[in-house]
Formats: sequence, C-alpha cells, structure tokens
Amino acid sequence: MKGIVLAGGSGTRLHPITKAVSKQLLPIYDKPLVYYPLSVLMLAGIREVLVVSTPRDLPAFRELLGDGAELGMRLKYAEQAEPRGLAEAFTIGRDFLAGEPCALVLGDNMFHGKDLTELLLNAKARVETEGGAVVFGYPVQDPRAFGVVEFDSRHRVVGIEEKPEHPKSKFAVPGLYFYDGQVSDIAANVKPSARGELEITSVNNAYLDKEQLSVELMGRGMAWLDTGTPEGLLKAAEYVEAVQSRQGYYIACLEEIAYRRAFIGAAELRKLGESLKKTAYGKYLLSIADEAEEI
Ligand code: G1P
Repeated sequence: MKGIVLAGGSGTRLHPITKAVSKQLLPIYDKPLVYYPLSVLMLAGIREVLVVSTPRDLPAFRELLGDGAELGMRLKYAEQAEPRGLAEAFTIGRDFLAGEPCALVLGDNMFHGKDLTELLLNAKARVETEGGAVVFGYPVQDPRAFGVVEFDSRHRVVGIEEKPEHPKSKFAVPGLYFYDGQVSDIAANVKPSARGELEITSVNNAYLDKEQLSVELMGRGMAWLDTGTPEGLLKAAEYVEAVQSRQGYYIACLEEIAYRRAFIGAAELRKLGESLKKTAYGKYLLSIADEAEEI
C-alpha cells in the first residue's frame, strides 16, 4: 500500500499565522504539524508516500523531509496548482499510485491513542484483501465543520454529508482514508460540490453506493486533535507536551517509528540523533539507539 499526505490549501482560516507559511509546517510543540499525519502512515507500515502541496509550499516540504532515504522511506512530491478539493489528490497521484491501494491522510490531522496502530493495520489489511474503502467515524460535540456519518435505525451507514448545518449524527469523518485501486478513477468522476470543491466525501459516498465502504468507529481513548483554529493549535501542542513529558515517549517521532518498524537500523538512528544532538529531540533519538545497543 502507498500513502498520500495532502498538505495543500491556503490556510485562510488561520491568517495571519499562515499568510506566509504553510499550515502543515507550523510547530505543534516540538515538531512540524506534518510529522503527525506522516507518522500515521508510517505506523501503518507504509514506506512510499506522495506529499501533495501548493506550488509555493512544496519546496519547504521537500527541504524538511527530503527523499525519505534517511527514514528508510521513499518520498515523492507533487503540486496541487489550485485548491480544487481533497479528491484531486488521487488524480494528481494517479501515476504515483499506479493502481495500487492507498491511504490518504490530511496534513493537518493529528491522531494519538493506544489502539491506533491496530486500527491502522486492520484498515490496511481489509482494503488489501477485500478491496473497497475504509474510513472512520469519531464522535465530536460539534460535527458541523466535517464530513458527518448518517446511520439508519439499524446502525447501518446510509450516507456521509459534508459540513451539514444539521448533522444527522455526532460522528465526524477524520482526515484518514484507506482505498483500493479504484480510487483514482472514482475521484476523476467526482463533480464539484455546491461550494465548488471536489469533495473527499463524494469519493466516500461513491464507495458507499457500490456497497464497498466500511466506516470504523473510533472509540474513547483515541485522540483526534483539532488544528483548525489558534486555540486548537495551542491545545494540540499542550496535549503533545503533556504526554511526552509525563511518559517520556514521543508522539510522531518519525525517526523512532522508522527504527521500530525496521525501516532503518540502530546505526542509522544514532546518526540521525547525532545530527540533532543539541535538542531534546536528538537526545531522545540517541537514548533509543543506546537502548537498542544494550539489548
Ligand atoms: C476535510 C473534509 C471533511 C473531513 C475533514 C477532516 O474538511 O472535507 O470531510 O471531515 O477534512 O479534517 P476541511 O478540513 O477541508 O474543511
């Protein structure tokens, strides 16, 4: 399975913070926002990832992440010339995907929780073996800013509505989606919505119409953090700081995940740690490399 990180958009809802900088490059405590969604793909065991962003911001992502070799990954880059909507990721990424299944994660979505890896591996395995699509439902107090799942009286999913004024459930669809090899063709047939965008929700409803959509509910104890407002950014940073300083485990430390997933070995991890050793982040990498060598 391949992965796409969609880090486009003009970030107007966060101006002036994002007037000159991509939202997905803003710091969330000790690392850029895009690390968090990229870590989710890596936790799913995905090593080939396409990063899609605007012509203005793409060079910065390339500078930050490079070709991925240091992480034992293969990263490619592609431009989204205009913010035409999330579904365009699959037509932009058609050659990259070459008909393979893929996971799409939005570059501003942060997830954390004990069951996350299992959830990811199950979704990936399901799409790879049975085809179709897997998306998630996450209960939020105010789902109006999201895609929202509608259920019938027997709890079957009957539709997903994009940013409904009157949501039919409290289950929002987070920006993490698993699709089989049909997705580029399905996305190519999506028509712009009333707000003029090629909606990811239209892709999901197309799978639902074919009875090939599975919606997995994310339960208690799973964090899906909001990064859409200044307050959300602050709270997300506080969450990361609280968990990291209490437990001593980092969230979304790409180098650690690459090592624990055996994308790289202890020697490579040590080298990455050495290059950052003035920071707590670098020292953390070195402590994991030390542990590895003690075993
Ligand atoms: C997008 C999707 C929406 C989804 C949300 C998750 O909204 O259109 O369905 O629930 O991401 O973050 P946007 O962030 O573009 O408003």
